[in-house]
Amino acid sequence: MRFSSSVLAFAATLSTASAAYKGFNYGAFFNNQVAKVLADFEYEFNAAKQLPGTNGEFTSARIYTMIQHGTTNTIIEAIQAAINTKTSLLLGLWASAGQANFNNEISTLKAATQQFGASFTDLVLGISVGSEDLYRNSVIGSQNNENPGTSPAELVNYIQQTRDAVKGTGLAGKPIGHVDTWTAFVNASNNAVISAVDFIGVDAYPYFQTTMANNIENGNDTFYAAFDATVAVSQGKPVWVTETGWPVTGDTRNLAVASAQNAKIYWDDVTCSLINANVNLFYYTLQDVQWGNPNPSFGLKPAGDLQQVNPLFDLTCPGSSA
Ligand SMILES: *[C@@H]1O[C@H](CO)[C@@H](O)[C@H](O)[C@H]1NC(C)=O
Ligand SMILES: *[C@@H]1O[C@H](CO)[C@@H](O)[C@H](O)[C@H]1NC(C)=O
Repeated sequence: MRFSSSVLAFAATLSTASAAYKGFNYGAFFNNQVAKVLADFEYEFNAAKQLPGTNGEFTSARIYTMIQHGTTNTIIEAIQAAINTKTSLLLGLWASAGQANFNNEISTLKAATQQFGASFTDLVLGISVGSEDLYRNSVIGSQNNENPGTSPAELVNYIQQTRDAVKGTGLAGKPIGHVDTWTAFVNASNNAVISAVDFIGVDAYPYFQTTMANNIENGNDTFYAAFDATVAVSQGKPVWVTETGWPVTGDTRNLAVASAQNAKIYWDDVTCSLINANVNLFYYTLQDVQWGNPNPSFGLKPAGDLQQVNPLFDLTCPGSSA
């Protein structure tokens, strides 16, 4: 009975066109560089669905690569985990490591489509070609010592390669997008990328906007200024929020203080207003303190057994009855 009711609930989320996607971002490896395997992804996806205060609505996962960490072109085990847990997927193809690596992303995407068929493709919400590649290619990205990134022309080329690769497969017709920082999208030199995609995934973190008055009291306004600026250049394409969040611990950055108390304010204001507005949302993040102490840490859950430890603050949205 438990199984069939969860299948029904899943079918209902897919068939309700107005229900936006809600999920988290899932890296391919832990802080100690060890690859996540099937059991790890299953565990995380189940913990997201059982997250107190969220009505079981965080049923989507954004991943950054199709390739299992540490391999050349083995399918990432997150795919099997998503099938096993009925988790819908925003796929990512890593696009900041050159054409040879991108070829492996494409061949792995095709291999997953062939191996798993509809049990995989039915879960796919969209495909992001790249993640913050234009940010890495920008002035501020190089000031922050990021990797070289990818030029807009090269990304447009990768997007076309992806469109060609999914033709005639179960992934044909899935929206193909690109994820980047809001600063990259409002840079007019990158307009060709916006023209090439079906949707835009924007990453925006007021905490990191250290040239602005980025205290938590301005967090909501700072986020929406970034979001609205992205919508303004989106050429009418849907804008998904692919990463946002406020850190629970870590250094103070300009006026931004990392604390669970401030993360709750950000959650109540930004996350809950995006949910209310039916914007597709992938929060950063569920838990990030396994095997290490990231600074800052954005995890809703503290260290410890992901399915046992409670979130650091109440996730019930104001006015909701969760
Ligand atoms: C704007 O985008 C172009 C192309 O990606 C990049 O070369 C340039 O550095 C960006 N401008 C700034 C101010 O970052
Ligand atoms: C956050 O900003 C949005 C967009 O300007 C606004 O609609 C909303 O009321 C704000 N929320 C809070 C709590 O200030």
